[in-house]
Amino acid sequence: MGANAKAGKLNLAVLISGGGSNLQAIIDACKDSDFPAKVQMVISNTPGAQGLTRAKNAGIPAITIDHKNYDTRQDFEEALTDALSGHDIDLICLAGFMRILTPGFIAQWPRKIINTHPSLLPKFGGEGMYGMRVHQAVLDSGEQYSGSTIHYVIPEVDKGEIIIQKQVDIHSDDTAETLAKRVLASEHIAYPEAIKQIALKSGF
Ligand code: GRF
Repeated sequence: MGANAKAGKLNLAVLISGGGSNLQAIIDACKDSDFPAKVQMVISNTPGAQGLTRAKNAGIPAITIDHKNYDTRQDFEEALTDALSGHDIDLICLAGFMRILTPGFIAQWPRKIINTHPSLLPKFGGEGMYGMRVHQAVLDSGEQYSGSTIHYVIPEVDKGEIIIQKQVDIHSDDTAETLAKRVLASEHIAYPEAIKQIALKSGF
């Protein structure tokens, strides 16, 4: 820790919906005692998500808040807020979290929510651009490169300030699936780097 460093680590809440391989990359980075952040809790909106098992295996408290149990987005987000409160969370990391957050929720966490997106934003972002659709659109448009972007979350989907990008090559025989794998691997490098950058800037 540097002379001006705060005691402790940047406390993360990681929000997931599925496989949680980005969560795993963050958990693995946090195993290094010099890494300035710690995963304090994991929340999934999907019951049975594989990422929940990853959290449990790492001894991290993990809960499910199933959006299907709530009538409105606001009700779902109130449950999220309740779950997050009292855990001293410094940063919310969306890692394959497949829900769009409302401006009201985002306003409660100014510059404290970040996301990973599987393209070189601002290209191939925005509402409706997720999963294999992104990679297919990249291939269809004849791009030479794709990659990943870690960015701050603002109400406009995928438009927040970019923290880190990683470029990957596109191969002539790529399918959306093969490109997705290469991009995902780049997210696994980018996400811990972005967290580290934010933690160090915050004095941790
Ligand atoms: C990532 O490519 C992310 O950008 C996208 O969904 C994937 C999530 O993967 N939104 P995982 O759940 O972290 O394995």
